[in-house]
Amino acid sequence: MHPSALLLIVVVAGIAEGRGLPAAGTPAARFWQEALPGTPMPKVITELVQKGIDNSPLNESYAAPHFSPSTQLGYSTYDSACGKPSSSEEAEAATGIFFHEAQAREGSVMTVSLPPAAVPAFLPRDVAEKVPFANLTDVLATFNIAPGSTEATKAGQTLCGCRAAPLAGEQKACATSLEGTVWAATRMLGTTASGQVWVAASEVPRDGLPRQAYVVSAVSALDGDRHVGCHDEPFPYAVFHCHTAQSSTRAYEITLSNLHGSSPAVAMVALCHRDTSNWNPAHPAFEMLGTQPGGAPVCHFMPYSNLVFGVKA
Ligand SMILES: *[C@@H]1O[C@H](CO)[C@@H](O)[C@H](O)[C@H]1NC(C)=O
Ligand SMILES: *[C@@H]1O[C@H](CO)[C@@H](O)[C@H](O)[C@H]1NC(C)=O
Repeated sequence: MHPSALLLIVVVAGIAEGRGLPAAGTPAARFWQEALPGTPMPKVITELVQKGIDNSPLNESYAAPHFSPSTQLGYSTYDSACGKPSSSEEAEAATGIFFHEAQAREGSVMTVSLPPAAVPAFLPRDVAEKVPFANLTDVLATFNIAPGSTEATKAGQTLCGCRAAPLAGEQKACATSLEGTVWAATRMLGTTASGQVWVAASEVPRDGLPRQAYVVSAVSALDGDRHVGCHDEPFPYAVFHCHTAQSSTRAYEITLSNLHGSSPAVAMVALCHRDTSNWNPAHPAFEMLGTQPGGAPVCHFMPYSNLVFGVKA
């Protein structure tokens, strides 16, 4: 091929990429490039950054999600001190994200489902620093949320979960901006060297995945045996709860294809917990997988907008 033809292709691809990254040029995008060189910002995260600029959560009325699978993965699930344990309906809805590590191989078939995502947008960091977070009364007043409403209750549970002490062997923190999320995760991984940390997110559509059988069409293991998972929590703006697992984890990128090939393949990121001996026996994953605390590893797909951080090998 003539070199100028190649150049043209690169330029065209560059334009297409620019269009696909609406958040490009924002402070959050510049921060990301510096903090995580070599890891493109996942599309779902660029969407939440751009949405926070175009339609500020300060100007949007907040409706708490009916059900968010992230809440089955965050700290609050393991400790009912912050509110009632999840309802059987929620536990049932959560079963679509769990699987056995043995299923993480090409050709295996598994039933997966994810509800539509209702993740609030990221506030730009300078705004997030001025907006109330820890004081629920102030948060409700700022975002016009009626005390006693479902939204107020869920926001209160999020704050309670953020304040709760970590489990033994766990590190945890809540962040109110994308920058804060990246800082928290890199700190927990204990690395400050630039370019050492990778990040991955599932490319699951915002509308979720219908409950059906999918075939695993590709699997690749991601580096590391210790990872930080960051999950969105119900709140009027994006609050991410990041934590390390209590024991070692394995991370995978798993491509799920529709058995009948009628819809596009979805590249999912998954974490497998190798030691579940400290988990609450009531965790929905155990019933779904027919195992118990300390049994076979428990794996879960990362729902929409959830992030996995790890250290490059
Ligand atoms: C909220 O909306 C008002 C009026 O539409 C606008 O002037 C203001 O800049 C918006 N604020 C934010 C933070 O987007
Ligand atoms: C929260 O802020 C309100 C005033 O906005 C104050 O009266 C209240 O004491 C604060 N609550 C806490 C727990 O600090």
